[in-house]
Amino acid sequence: MLRVRALRLLGRRRASGVSVLGSSGPRHCSSGPLGVRDDAPGARAFFTTPIFYVNAAPHIGHLYSALLADALCRHRRLRVPSAAATRFSTGTDEHGLKIQQAAAAAGLAPAELCDRVSAQFQQLFREAGVSSTDFVRTTEARHRVAVQHFWGLLEARGLLYKGLYEGWYCASEECFLPEAKVTRQPGPSGDACPVSLESGHPVSWTKEENYIFRLSQFREPLRRWLRDDPQAVTPEPFRLAVLQWLEEELPDLSVSRRSSHLHWGIPVPGDDSQTIYVWLDALVNYLTVIGYPNAEFRAWWPATSHIIGKDILKFHAIYWPALLLGAGMSPPHRIYVHSHWTVCGQKMSKSLGNVVDPRTCLDRYTVDGFRYFLLRQGVPNWDCDYYDEKVVKLLDSELADALGGLLNRCTANRINPSGTYPVFCTNCFPPAPGVAGPSARAQAEDYALVNTVATLPRQVAEHYDNFQIYKALEAVSSCVRQTNGFVQRHAPWKLSWESPVDAPWLGTVLHVALECLRVFGTLLQPVTPSLADKLLSRLGVSATERGLGELIFLPRFYGYPCPFEGRRLGPETGLLFPRLDQSRAWLVKAHRT
Ligand code: MSP
Repeated sequence: MLRVRALRLLGRRRASGVSVLGSSGPRHCSSGPLGVRDDAPGARAFFTTPIFYVNAAPHIGHLYSALLADALCRHRRLRVPSAAATRFSTGTDEHGLKIQQAAAAAGLAPAELCDRVSAQFQQLFREAGVSSTDFVRTTEARHRVAVQHFWGLLEARGLLYKGLYEGWYCASEECFLPEAKVTRQPGPSGDACPVSLESGHPVSWTKEENYIFRLSQFREPLRRWLRDDPQAVTPEPFRLAVLQWLEEELPDLSVSRRSSHLHWGIPVPGDDSQTIYVWLDALVNYLTVIGYPNAEFRAWWPATSHIIGKDILKFHAIYWPALLLGAGMSPPHRIYVHSHWTVCGQKMSKSLGNVVDPRTCLDRYTVDGFRYFLLRQGVPNWDCDYYDEKVVKLLDSELADALGGLLNRCTANRINPSGTYPVFCTNCFPPAPGVAGPSARAQAEDYALVNTVATLPRQVAEHYDNFQIYKALEAVSSCVRQTNGFVQRHAPWKLSWESPVDAPWLGTVLHVALECLRVFGTLLQPVTPSLADKLLSRLGVSATERGLGELIFLPRFYGYPCPFEGRRLGPETGLLFPRLDQSRAWLVKAHRT
């Protein structure tokens, strides 16, 4: 035990750039690419999803936003296990014209619609394993206090003034649009109706006396922030897009509406004739959750990472940091941006009738299966198209056949009758190909596999840091393929435990494959928590051995003891992930209708 602890420390020093063990030393991934500051035991990190509009039921795009945040958060918890170090919030956005109109159309009081749809989001996230620590609703009293306090600060700092504001307002996007973003489309009666160029939603001309925020003052500070911190908005193309927007004039922003027009919201303090603009209201949710305006919020701000879709980039990367700077606070630590899911090449929308219900997907593909699909196929930089066959094909090939098959091949009773983690033989798999003795059986490709899997945790951490979770999964999947190749190459089923020549090599092949599986299981926890649990339990890896701090791959190869060697495997609990194509009756039916 002491030696293992010593090895951990060595590994940590090596990962921070001091090569203690030379180039072939065991790989350890406790200090991730976030560096010492983020991974330090006391360092805090706060992850947020956008808060979701309650005008309609959740769809797979919403779930995707929440799962990206969940995976980032779970990965961070594997690096820094202290429960007090990571916080993760989600919630619902319940005020504004959009909700007011949706409630009226449904014949409901706005509060009734909010309760109903907010409950649907909460249920979906519970079912999908979204491990949030907080859920905020903008209709809560604590939120009203936070928003009004924030407003008071802006006012006290002379950043609000009253003026006449006019322009096209799009209730669906909850924002004013410049003339260039408005087009005309034939309406129901054939007349040309003004609509938003991007979303196609109707816009109406609005002319009101409102409170206006001096956004124009923040153009230069925002540019400086984005230039000084190249990771402030990630991935890079989105940061460049924001910088591009900031090349143009930044007009002041209307931050209230007449209450006679918009009553469903938070009143401006001291002026009941005005309601606070829904985006200002919504953005402050990130502060409400962490206890603002009480000083406790400072423990989590600005160590905050917002996960958002590309459609709300301007609100988060321009309006929000400007409002924060205006209130004397720092912008958030990171804004991670993702693109959208389309269906058969089209935007998902209620009017097109192509909205994909996430709960049906969780039922059909299992929670872990659907989580894996969305995070493996969703590429932040561009839109992805959804269709059922794609899910079946991916899950069957990567989870059922490749990963499940590998586990089965190495743990099945006929190949591993003792049901233990076999012993690694250094003579069969010497530390380097050059020092091979007569019993050496490992080949060049086997050394390549060991090298690749040894660097996998670090590679995965880098992909998480760059918000490229799909690349992390691609890397794991490629290693799974390589490990299957290793097993295929050495065909352990042709070797005999009875033969003194075969037995040490047979044990070594299985040991290496199980070590690879242990790394894959550990790294898959943020995306497929139950499946990873099943895999690690089958390998006999206990709950305290599943963090990234404990992840030392193949220590025996590097001359250190392996705590798993000789240990009993966990109980056999059936297929890791049953193939879906056998249960495709619903798919065929769905195509016929
Ligand atoms: N209420 C605002 C956010 C306020 S945050 C202070 C909002 N809500 S939303 O319900 O319309 O969207 C919530 C999230 O879902 C956004 O990140 C949005 O990009 C995401 N998605 C909505 N449709 C989507 C897809 N089709 N695909 C992927 N994500 C999508 O905006």
